[in-house]
Amino acid sequence: MTDSNQNKIIIAIDGYSSCGKSTIAKEIAKKLNYIFIDSGAMYRAVTLYCLRAGVVVNGEINLPVLQESLKKIRITFVFNPLTAHNDVCLNGENVEQEIRQLAVAQNVSQIAAIAAVRQLLVAQQQEMGRSKGIVMDGRDIGTVVFPSAELKIFMTADARIRAQRRYDEMIAKNEPVDFDEILKNINERDRFDETREESPLRKAADAIVLDNSHMTRDEQFEWILSKVEERVF
Ligand code: CDP
Repeated sequence: MTDSNQNKIIIAIDGYSSCGKSTIAKEIAKKLNYIFIDSGAMYRAVTLYCLRAGVVVNGEINLPVLQESLKKIRITFVFNPLTAHNDVCLNGENVEQEIRQLAVAQNVSQIAAIAAVRQLLVAQQQEMGRSKGIVMDGRDIGTVVFPSAELKIFMTADARIRAQRRYDEMIAKNEPVDFDEILKNINERDRFDETREESPLRKAADAIVLDNSHMTRDEQFEWILSKVEERVF
């Protein structure tokens, strides 16, 4: 570890879908000059590959073909100066926008439940955190990827509030969406993520809960920053 990394920590943010984990994680990383990694984007990129390559057809996964496909998938991040965000790339192609589509959201939890997929991505995520100074959000960051993270946050919010936020986000992007379909997807993914065998979504014993149903972004930001300060100074 270099001198500049001596005071740096790992911040793990886990929680339910559409809680705003990535938004707040990105703001915190910017403030601290840390790297931000959206681990969900990596699972979404693998899912996009599978949809394009015909590995998933009508929700059915062809496991042998998936195993073969994993050898051909390279996930990287590229800094986007326009959004100040690390965009995810699939074999060199920036797919940050495409992975947010509903078709990907509808298949990602099944793909993310497969052990071989998780092994591949978790190893990459752990490598990214070797020098600390990282904020990573996902489902298993505090439990599996970085069990020794200095700060673990478990985010949650009322499902209807989360669906409304995702709905507003998609409407703002002019995407045709149906509120009930989004709510259904959120509830289904949460249930799937919590009950899967491989690294299910769980609050780590030492994680602090942040229910942001009725909190502004500024309030969440200050709350997390105060927890960081308790650990760093
Ligand atoms: O943005 P949202 O919270 O809706 O989801 P995401 O963070 O993009 O993650 C998409 C899906 O990937 C989740 O529903 C999980 O099934 C899976 N995932 C996971 O299994 N483990 C992670 N560390 C991150 C995401």
